Amino acid sequence: MIIPVNLAQDSYEILLEDNALANINQAINVKRKILLVTDDGIPKQYVDKVMQQCDPVFLAIVKQGEASKSFAEYKSLLKLLVKNQFTRSDAIIALGGGVVGDLAGFVAASYMRGIDFYNIPTTLLAQVDSSVGGKTAIDFCNLKNIVGAFHQPKKVIIDPLVLETLSRRETNAGLVEAIKMAATSDANLFDLIKNNPLKENIKQIIADSLAIKIDIVQNDVKEKNLRKVLNFGHTVGHAIEVQSNYLHGECIGMGMLYFCSDQVRTKLIEILKQFNLPLKSNLSVDKIFSAILHDKKTSGDEITIVYVPEIGSYQLIDLTLDECKAKLEESQQKIASLLQNI
Ligand SMILES: NC(=O)c1ccc[n+]([C@@H]2O[C@H](COP(=O)([O-])OP(=O)(O)OC[C@H]3O[C@@H](n4cnc5c(N)ncnc54)[C@H](O)[C@@H]3O)[C@@H](O)[C@H]2O)c1
Repeated sequence: MIIPVNLAQDSYEILLEDNALANINQAINVKRKILLVTDDGIPKQYVDKVMQQCDPVFLAIVKQGEASKSFAEYKSLLKLLVKNQFTRSDAIIALGGGVVGDLAGFVAASYMRGIDFYNIPTTLLAQVDSSVGGKTAIDFCNLKNIVGAFHQPKKVIIDPLVLETLSRRETNAGLVEAIKMAATSDANLFDLIKNNPLKENIKQIIADSLAIKIDIVQNDVKEKNLRKVLNFGHTVGHAIEVQSNYLHGECIGMGMLYFCSDQVRTKLIEILKQFNLPLKSNLSVDKIFSAILHDKKTSGDEITIVYVPEIGSYQLIDLTLDECKAKLEESQQKIASLLQNI
């Protein structure tokens, strides 16, 4: 299946197909220097399969985990490009999850003011969300994604079969981004995820999630307004993520429970529980709030939050910081009392 992403500038296609990894040389011009960026948790068979189809290819394997979205890794990838005399007509391929995609994408965005970037996402999170939309970034000063750029990929190649080696925990954490999009924009997708076996429906879930994301990014490439909906769960989620060892998707799942109606909160708890996702961090409201204050989404004395009144719909609400803190306290109490009854 070929899914177009139509933008005013830099439109591209997503190829979503079982076994797409075996045919990337039909989708990408590989007859030039390629830097393949991956991490040491990506099964070797996938790396080999991509390497075999590219010539010449330079391989960079970073350590798995968020810590690789760092200045140190960014710098060392740039050095590799300079040392091997990459030019504007050469390209970077990311093979991995959101960490590799965000890091390699930012290198591609900034090297020589931007070179071609191809994303081959291998986690569910990256397949349903992070590989599409052109956001690239690294973390800095304990702040997530604080340094980055918008740089659209030339193509995204999604092979759902690579998910077979992904751990159950990573799969479920990635599913949260699909649940997030369903919660704000597509009640049918929410039901599909909730009421059907995941494995048999994974390609449909990926396609439906991408349809939501594409519709949003096509209308708001640079997150001026509409695209903020994709941050549902992220205001609190990022605050949890920088202060805990939970996975990104797990944090977003817990974060979604703060800004929604009581009825939606109950439904979200049910679906998170169904996929063995954590429901509550041990962070106090004070700790969550102080991390929110440091987050780049807070501008001046106000913060825009994404609120879900019922599954499949959302509102963007501007809160003063005091109102935000009061809402956090109210929600934290409600979450605690709902969890007591489980
Ligand atoms: N750019 C965006 O729009 C956007 C959107 C959402 C999230 N993100 C970012 O994405 C990152 C999280 O990405 P993630 O959840 O994909 O985590 P990740 O990239 O850290 O990958 C998770 C783990 O899975 C392993 N792995 C990947 N593919 C595998 C496979 N097929 N089989 C076995 N193991 C595999 C990796 O080695 C890693 O250990 C965060 O940094 C977050 O900020 C970016």
